[in-house]
Amino acid sequence: MNIDLTGKNAFVSGGSQGIGNAVAIELTKLGANVTIAARTETALIDAVVNLNMISSPFQQHDYVVADYSDPDKLNTAINRHLRKHNKPFHILVNNAGGPPQGLAIDANEEDFLAAFNTHLVSNHVLVKAFVEGMKQSNYGRIINIISTSVKQPLPNLGVSNTIRGAVASWSKTLANELGQFGITVNNVLPGATETERLKAIIANKSKKVNKDLETVAKEMMNEVPLHRFAKPEEVAFAVAFLASPSASYINGINLPVDGGRTSSL
Ligand SMILES: NC(=O)c1ccc[n+]([C@@H]2O[C@H](COP(=O)([O-])OP(=O)(O)OC[C@H]3O[C@@H](n4cnc5c(N)ncnc54)[C@H](OP(=O)(O)O)[C@@H]3O)[C@@H](O)[C@H]2O)c1
Repeated sequence: MNIDLTGKNAFVSGGSQGIGNAVAIELTKLGANVTIAARTETALIDAVVNLNMISSPFQQHDYVVADYSDPDKLNTAINRHLRKHNKPFHILVNNAGGPPQGLAIDANEEDFLAAFNTHLVSNHVLVKAFVEGMKQSNYGRIINIISTSVKQPLPNLGVSNTIRGAVASWSKTLANELGQFGITVNNVLPGATETERLKAIIANKSKKVNKDLETVAKEMMNEVPLHRFAKPEEVAFAVAFLASPSASYINGINLPVDGGRTSSL
């Protein structure tokens, strides 16, 4: 099995922490040159320093500061980066912070538009910027970190549930269109994963149901057949495999990495 990514250039959105950072680390370990993006420059610099520490001398890592809620500015930043470095990206991992929690009925129009920009339009900006390079390399792996809410809506994540479905349909459509160029497009659907996002979800739930953090976390773990949360690297291993040469015939799928929590197939 060939999972070597030596010589491959990867772009990981939200790569400064959580699942995105774990993905950046796994792709680096497999030999890729990794560029990460997020809003906070200091966190990006720290993450690149860490990637450099686990790399061979031939690997090069970089970062782009961008706020995905503004796709026009993202477009400008990415095209500036491409002009400066003049190298194709072979692997694109779309992953940004999830939309705020709350009921769909309480959300206003701006909440849906903001999430649509951050999670769909910005992903599309990146695909458009990188697709020519992938076609010319005859190697493309587009992997979208979405959520199990693609299969089963999650409580109190109204805007997220709505937008995730749109991202999954966009992704499946691209998989149909781009497969002929050796480009695969797949979705990884994390379940509850130990990151800052999960901490915020537990804190919010704890306030709402008036139970302490530990009790809420335990109840959430008990909803998972494995009775525990995922480590970010357990999601990253799936992403890294989908990014590899050996995943060449896997296209257009949703891959839950949720310990079996989703109750449908
Ligand atoms: N953790 C879970 O249990 C879980 C479960 C299912 C789905 N997910 C989804 O998986 C994705 C990653 O989750 P996570 O838990 O790793 O989140 P996280 O720990 O909050 O990390 C989010 C990353 O995205 C960046 N980011 C956030 N908003 C951004 C924006 N507007 N523009 C650019 N970058 C932005 C953050 O950096 P900056 O803040 O510096 O920008 C950070 O690097 C999210 O979409 C989340 O909803 C997570």
